[in-house]
Amino acid sequence: QVIRLADYSPADFVLERTDLTFELDPRSTKVEARLIFHRRPGVAADAPLVLDGDELSLSGLLIDQAEAEASRYTVTPDRLEIRDLPEESPFEITVVTIIDPESNTQLMGLYRTNGVYCTQCEAEGFRRITYFPDRPDVLSPFTITIIAEKAGNPLLLSNGNFLGGGNYDEGRHFAAWFDPHPKPSYLFALVAGDLGVVEDTFTTASGNEVALKIYVEHGNEPRAAYAMDALKRSMKWDEERFGREYDLNIFQIVAVSDFNMGAMENKGLNVFNDKYVLADPETATDADYANIEAIIAHEYFHNWTGNRITCRDWFQLCLKEGLTVYRDHEFSADQRSRAVKRIAEVRHLKAEQFAEDSGPLAHPVRPETYREINNFYTTTVYEKGSEVTRMIATLLGDDGFRKGMDLYFERHDGEAATVEDFVKSFEDATGRDLSQFKLWYSQAGTPLVTVSTAYDAAARTFTLSLEQMVPATPGQSAKQPMHIPLKFALIGENGGEIAPTAVSGGEVSGDVLHLTERSQTFTFTEVPDRPVLSLNRGFSAPINLSFDQSGADLAHIARHDSDLFARWQALSDLALPVLNKAANDARDGKVVSVDPALVSALIETLANDKLEPAFRAQALSLASEADIARELGGNNNPDAIHAGRNAVLKAVAEKGFSTFERLYKELAPKGVFAPDAAGAGRRALRNVALTYLAHAEESPARAAEAFAEADNMTELAHALTVLAHRFPEADETLAALAAFATRFDTNPLVLDKWFSIQATIPGEAALARVEALMKDPRFNAQNPNRVRALVGTFAFANPTGFNRVDGAGYRLLADQILAIDPRNPQLAARLLTAMRSWRSLEPVRAEAAKAALGKITGAKQLSADVADIVERMLKA
Ligand code: ARG
Ligand code: ZN
Repeated sequence: QVIRLADYSPADFVLERTDLTFELDPRSTKVEARLIFHRRPGVAADAPLVLDGDELSLSGLLIDQAEAEASRYTVTPDRLEIRDLPEESPFEITVVTIIDPESNTQLMGLYRTNGVYCTQCEAEGFRRITYFPDRPDVLSPFTITIIAEKAGNPLLLSNGNFLGGGNYDEGRHFAAWFDPHPKPSYLFALVAGDLGVVEDTFTTASGNEVALKIYVEHGNEPRAAYAMDALKRSMKWDEERFGREYDLNIFQIVAVSDFNMGAMENKGLNVFNDKYVLADPETATDADYANIEAIIAHEYFHNWTGNRITCRDWFQLCLKEGLTVYRDHEFSADQRSRAVKRIAEVRHLKAEQFAEDSGPLAHPVRPETYREINNFYTTTVYEKGSEVTRMIATLLGDDGFRKGMDLYFERHDGEAATVEDFVKSFEDATGRDLSQFKLWYSQAGTPLVTVSTAYDAAARTFTLSLEQMVPATPGQSAKQPMHIPLKFALIGENGGEIAPTAVSGGEVSGDVLHLTERSQTFTFTEVPDRPVLSLNRGFSAPINLSFDQSGADLAHIARHDSDLFARWQALSDLALPVLNKAANDARDGKVVSVDPALVSALIETLANDKLEPAFRAQALSLASEADIARELGGNNNPDAIHAGRNAVLKAVAEKGFSTFERLYKELAPKGVFAPDAAGAGRRALRNVALTYLAHAEESPARAAEAFAEADNMTELAHALTVLAHRFPEADETLAALAAFATRFDTNPLVLDKWFSIQATIPGEAALARVEALMKDPRFNAQNPNRVRALVGTFAFANPTGFNRVDGAGYRLLADQILAIDPRNPQLAARLLTAMRSWRSLEPVRAEAAKAALGKITGAKQLSADVADIVERMLKA
């Protein structure tokens, strides 16, 4: 069944308040929902109240406290319709359901994880708890009473402020919570169980003291310290940057070990995948720390962008997600190196979102139809949504952006809003017309901007011709020209920037050039020398550029641009044709030749100690095999790409050997470990050096020594990766893998790294390795983190292993999807997206991939989640 944005209409009944009582029991939890409604003015007097359900069975229904006569309602597992309701006055509906948390393997609604009761309601999980108007534009205050066995459930948590609690009956106790802020059902949460807690407080700018609590499994308390620190920094930052204060007297976070996504922003009670809470130097990498900081911030920031202002319907998902990702990106940029953060964001955007946008799953930032909303928690909605927000900030400037945000908060606080409301706030606050800009929300596909330039020395003019094209995407063949803000600089021969005196051909404001037509020529006058154009600085627009810039010009940018992001971009633009050619040479059986200009530009950057180590690490990390495949665009042979890329790595490693060796020694850890940006940068560059050195050497000795000496997980896991990927059969590698598993035997999150490292060993043998690991007693096919670490990593991040020419990788994934789907459709559908670029494979692999997809479509009883993805992937 297809849901359409165009069909939106408000609910017939207004929900005034929600009062829920849970009597928890693992197999049989009783839920009593008392709901007060009134008919929205103008709605027909005979219109029934229709409540959503999902696999529910009704065990009691009262209307105004009297048992409902059978004639007044109709019920199925997914719908409860109630008739003959008062025309104007409020009425009370009491719904009683009995649910079974223990058997809820979908991890949507109320479920059990490691003996703890927990909920996930976004997007449509609440309807698995009780019959309810389960849509984001129905908001009400919630009162929650939780009753449970004392033993095993000392904690009884829900949203809002704690009202009180006490003994209930023999062996059971209760707790009551009240959330005064009207909210939709998707933000409801309940947690009950026995957990350890880390406590702190935060005093808001207006002087309110907020109790902060992070709950983790007993014994893990010390590993929650970093998350707590990140939370306090987030709270402060949102006050300073956006003027947003927290609004309850308590803020709680619970870490659970079975969770479909990263985390959930339930009002006052965030629930997290424990992977994004727990960290200490022995078990967490710098990337883990950075993820924790970003996700803690993200969920906290949702309190204003998501909770206080929520979405009118699920088509508006980017309204909260794109905006909140933008906010967490800005937060991390302020906490760390802004340029390095931006590089990492863009790498991620291109790897994930550009890949999605160029394949069968492409969709607009605000989709117009969906079959299963869970399938739209995508990188397009999140990351491209964030980039669209960033472009608004670029168009309006910092002050204009802040004014627009302030107006948005002022106008829509307490409401369920739309993308139109959001954009209008910026228009009204600044007077800027954003009507063309709004196409970014509705047109899918990554725009391609083709660039050509000319310098006329006699006339002292520089002309810049731009042409934009938005590729066709599923359901959208013809596109209109977009408003594309391009940050730019003209760099002179001496490396300084040339300030152009006059421009014609279109709007240029400060360092932003506005491309609004299909093709447009800008002319800069009074340009004294031929400038080098640095375009789309800071990745101001999420586009592809086709710009035949000479190697010399790119090297000039890489050396001189004051925007570090642009320097990185120039280096990767320099590397890309070399990597592409290397892949083609390898495919054609030719000797791979590597352009010496690239090698020296990379080594010059590497050796430049004035540049921060984290930047140098990014600069030396070549495009991944998947990136190269995407750039090649079609008929891809993953083995050739792998071989070509390795040849480039080796050439750089050999030429830069002494520099890599110097850095590897100089950057050895000194003093106490700190997970800060500077320390992380040093470790990142040292790890890069180790990777290159291993490509120049034939012995695993250096990596084995690194593994033996590492005093932190960042270097330990990397040394193990180098051993496993470069020397898979060496005794040193087998010994290190065994030692790692023994040492972290009791820590599943660390064992996930062990699974992932092995799942990504390149080559044909990966398949058998993954199959063997799936039988390892440490693997648990029921736990989403384990499945993602092993099967997910194999499919998403092992191009040669997964894309075996015989198709066995695809068949393994298809079988796993069919096995997981009945238990956990969301997880299955997400794994399946690993095949989203199957059409750009060479014909033999593409045929095999198609056959595996065919096996999935042919299966009986697919979930809506998997059916939707597989059908879109196969649609011509
Ligand atoms: N709103 C959450 C976040 O981005 C994601 C929850 C998605 N859950 C789901 N079942 N689709 O922080
Ligand atoms: Zn979010």
